[in-house]
Amino acid sequence: MRIPLIAGNWKMNTTVAEAMELASSMRARLDKIEGIEKVVCPPSISLTAVGRILQDSSVRLGAQNMYFEVKGAYTGEISPTMLKGLVQFVILGHSERRACFGETDEVINKKVQAALDFGLKPILCVGERLEENEAGETERVITKQLTRSLGGIKPTINLVIAYEPVWAIGTGRAADGLTAKTTIKCIRDVLAKLWDNDVAQEVRVLYGGSVTSNNIAEFVSQSEIDGALVGGASLKADEFPSIVSQSFVIKRQGA
Ligand code: PGA
Repeated sequence: MRIPLIAGNWKMNTTVAEAMELASSMRARLDKIEGIEKVVCPPSISLTAVGRILQDSSVRLGAQNMYFEVKGAYTGEISPTMLKGLVQFVILGHSERRACFGETDEVINKKVQAALDFGLKPILCVGERLEENEAGETERVITKQLTRSLGGIKPTINLVIAYEPVWAIGTGRAADGLTAKTTIKCIRDVLAKLWDNDVAQEVRVLYGGSVTSNNIAEFVSQSEIDGALVGGASLKADEFPSIVSQSFVIKRQGA
């Protein structure tokens, strides 16, 4: 049984004060929805403050990025030991990190290993760019990203994968549910080959890219899709809880 998961990626938005206000305004509604894991990922500077607001609630905290070294001369970076005890999840390999900061699958691989070593659950993002999609290369790209970023990593159900087609992120042009489901099935096939089929069936795989309260049903009604990684819509105090509660209702009906 895979527990559904909805994660909100706030990206580089909100001051500390705004992050606290957003977390406060969502806490009660999110806390009430059980049977589904709810994660918010504010900017790292707000993690402590938001963590305090979410204390003793069922809402989990995630970081948006992390370096793989434990400490040292890495100006501006945050290490797994700094996140340990503060967050449960960490988004790794987001396409914005790949595109804007040159992160490679090899670096992401080290980050995934470091997160797991310190008991953090990585939300590993994979996804094809528009030109790759149009060239019919989606499965090849995803297979390559997964194989490289999971190389040498022992099978674990603590990994979460987010399938995020790059062309769907922040564009208002989400993938359709069936296409997302097909790609996610391919992700599980790759995991089954890399690891084994039992673990591949247990790992949660999310869809991400322009998810809103208007289209979430299309994704979570697919049994292959265990939830969503939500960007823009997770910054809205009404919208995010609505995405979570719709997902809960649909998954409870057996999707
Ligand atoms: P979006 O972002 O929901 O704003 O498209 C998703 C993401 O980048 O995780």
